[in-house]
Amino acid sequence: MKERIIVALDTDSPEAALRTVAALSGEVGLFKVGLELFPRGGPDLIGKIREAGAEVFLDLKFHDIPNTVAGAVRSAVSLGVTFATVHASGGKAMLAAAAEAASGTRTTLLAVTVLTSLDDADLSAIGFALPTADAVARLAELAVRAGIGGIVCSAKEVAGLRSRVGEKVVLVTPGVRLPEDSPGDQKRVVTPSEAVRSGADYLVVGRPITKAPDPVAAARRFAAEMGRAAARGGTSG
Ligand code: C5P
Repeated sequence: MKERIIVALDTDSPEAALRTVAALSGEVGLFKVGLELFPRGGPDLIGKIREAGAEVFLDLKFHDIPNTVAGAVRSAVSLGVTFATVHASGGKAMLAAAAEAASGTRTTLLAVTVLTSLDDADLSAIGFALPTADAVARLAELAVRAGIGGIVCSAKEVAGLRSRVGEKVVLVTPGVRLPEDSPGDQKRVVTPSEAVRSGADYLVVGRPITKAPDPVAAARRFAAEMGRAAARGGTSG
């Protein structure tokens, strides 16, 4: 189960990120490097995380014309990352170009559908007519049809998307909290066992592990709760 935990390295300090990797690399599956950390740490940091024996999720949410996104994906692939993100709202041609650029490599692309910071009123203001849940479903199906291997979705959306996109598509969910954790700024949280039972393949966890007094113990509690859920609920892996 621990391989299915992705720890979000939400810091602007490459040194702090590498300390977290050193402490947790035997306890979790991957580390997520995103928009705050990558401009500071760059490819060098990705290389160091991989040299430490850990796998990387590069969360830069590419969204541009197809030719540019294909190039960005090739650059991400060249870093040997396991996962990289694109925005599903970049459209069919962009998604297909991204999928083609990652095809045959060790990198699986994940599509971001609707950011969880947006609600129905926000979508309407930017000209999206559909309610959020329908927009998420439509964008996920568009991405999967274009050959994207996985979807990042909120924990509340996992079960609905699993039945739409089938078993092979990787579903990655943030917003996970142990029952005893503070939700922080996350509004719609689920527990690790709820996430696993809903069909999530990977759980992105930031502060409940990185800011815990004992991050190793916190990671082990997540893995244990996921394991109990899988044993009860009969999910694979
Ligand atoms: O600290 P916490 O567990 O809330 O961190 C969750 C991580 O998942 C952060 O890196 C955040 O940017 C990311 N994320 C999220 N909600 C989404 C997509 C990504 O919290 N819908």
